[in-house]
Amino acid sequence: MLNRRETLRAALALAGTAGIGARCTAQTTAVSGYRPADVLRGPAGMAVSNSAAASSAGRDILAAGGNAVDAAVAVAFALAVTWPEAGNIGGGGFMMIAPPEQDPVCVDYRETAPQAVTATTLAEQTDRRHPRMVGVPGTVRGLALAQQSHGRLSWQAVLQPAIALAAGGCVVEAPLADSLNAVLAAVSKSTAPWHRPLEQTFGHPQRRRWRAGDRLVQPVLAATLQRIAEEGPDEFYSGQTARSLADYFEQHQGLITAEDLEGYQAVLRQPIRTNFAGHQVWAAPPPSSGGVALRLALQMIEHVGMPDPGDAAWTPMTVHIVAEAMRRTFRERAAYLGDPDFTPLPAWLGRRAHAAKLAESISRSRATDSRTLAGDIPLETGPVESPQTTHFSVIDAEGMAVSNTYTLEASWGSWLLDPATGFVLNNEMGDFNPVPGVTDLKGQIGTAPNQLAPGKRMLSSQTPTIVRRDGKTVLITGSPGGRTIINTVLCVLVQHLLFARPLPEAIAAPRFHHGWLPDQLRIETGGQSRLGELRGRLESLGHRVVETRGQGAAHSIAIEPASGIRVGVADGRRGGRVAATLIG
Ligand code: DON
Repeated sequence: MLNRRETLRAALALAGTAGIGARCTAQTTAVSGYRPADVLRGPAGMAVSNSAAASSAGRDILAAGGNAVDAAVAVAFALAVTWPEAGNIGGGGFMMIAPPEQDPVCVDYRETAPQAVTATTLAEQTDRRHPRMVGVPGTVRGLALAQQSHGRLSWQAVLQPAIALAAGGCVVEAPLADSLNAVLAAVSKSTAPWHRPLEQTFGHPQRRRWRAGDRLVQPVLAATLQRIAEEGPDEFYSGQTARSLADYFEQHQGLITAEDLEGYQAVLRQPIRTNFAGHQVWAAPPPSSGGVALRLALQMIEHVGMPDPGDAAWTPMTVHIVAEAMRRTFRERAAYLGDPDFTPLPAWLGRRAHAAKLAESISRSRATDSRTLAGDIPLETGPVESPQTTHFSVIDAEGMAVSNTYTLEASWGSWLLDPATGFVLNNEMGDFNPVPGVTDLKGQIGTAPNQLAPGKRMLSSQTPTIVRRDGKTVLITGSPGGRTIINTVLCVLVQHLLFARPLPEAIAAPRFHHGWLPDQLRIETGGQSRLGELRGRLESLGHRVVETRGQGAAHSIAIEPASGIRVGVADGRRGGRVAATLIG
């Protein structure tokens, strides 16, 4: 007998032959790279995330009459159960919401610094997984704000799939098995007593390695989610969960208090918008650097003009131009961006004249030395940033779109978990500039806008993005990857909007990252062991090339303007799955 998923798949495959929708393979004939984990064409609602169970939770909420925001909130809570290395209720993020016929808005649920910090708290903190590295979590308030402002189902209904997955257990998918085994091996080497509860919560009950197909049951998390469902988001910020967290931090040298939790607010903000290749690109505003950086890089690329790459995913010249735009963008990011409630965003930073002025120093025959762009940022020498985050995309039958990126900062965050609440806590404080005034060649930034202060939001690179053409949503995208997130989204937009590649090809195409400092161009090998000729051509232009394995996981949805057909693509770099409804 077919289960529900197989039935749906079979139905979609049949529908596909009738021209309604179908699972299909990536068309990667012209573009080498990373084959998507999943591609699905469908006529109505769709959710794409890192976890099959979470995508299905979104699909089920759509099928039950929820809109894209209801489904996104369900996916977010479900990922906190099924993808706990980054899906979370102990972290924060950004949700872009695009209702049909209305401009997109962004829910900022970025973590904040506790009131007890001083400017030097981070400079004195060498252990990145210490209780002091935890920012006040924003996820529950953010999801509640999204749902109250744009959802139509009840709060209890959208939490239900996550509660069921935590209480009844979720099937461990291969990426989760790998992730669990990796974190348990790493945590076993930590001598810190506060890292033991992670082993107790996530260790295999038979003390063996996790395997795909095992079942992960999280009864404590289920109880926490149940309380949040019954009592509302305030339960997390002033109820039993808040009291437990405040006690936990007091006992473990942390800084977060009951007052910090009670005072946390998510904020609705206006996204950053720019025009690119005949499209309108909308992305997360400060305190994420994502939207501002993406706008600046796209404006520079348009100003310089890109040669046609022909059948190649990228040519040396197209990589060079984009990398030079990235380099200049990240210098501006370091100089001007931080929490807008502390450092207002300069209006001129968004003007095309500013992008044009920056782009004028781009040479087609020579890479720029990053040090020459420092300007009034003094440079020294000294450490760098680490992964993990997760992105998902949702659309409903009416065309409401959601692009959500949220994170614990590092993979499995701080490795800290209050055993009475059952969820992993972030280590987002590491996104503040750690040492005031110290900007070094390795990429540590010390500029003023992102220095630590009580109640402040740390600068993010999360770039959930929604693209429209003639007022209609045509692309929902975003990615994990720390500072590389911005450049992953940039590569996807150049591939899909400028080079007009179908979404599966745009996602498969190799990606690259230049972050100003360190002065190096990190390029994916595209699933091959070595980069080949491209490396030599870029080195001859003066780039310091570093080969990398996989940049980001851009789980995305494209909407074909003429037919309205949705094409969901789960990026193959870290697994993932598309789930779709047949009708609204
Ligand atoms: O908000 C940020 O920019 C970072 N905390 C994101 C970290 C991240 O993406 C790690 N991912 N793979």
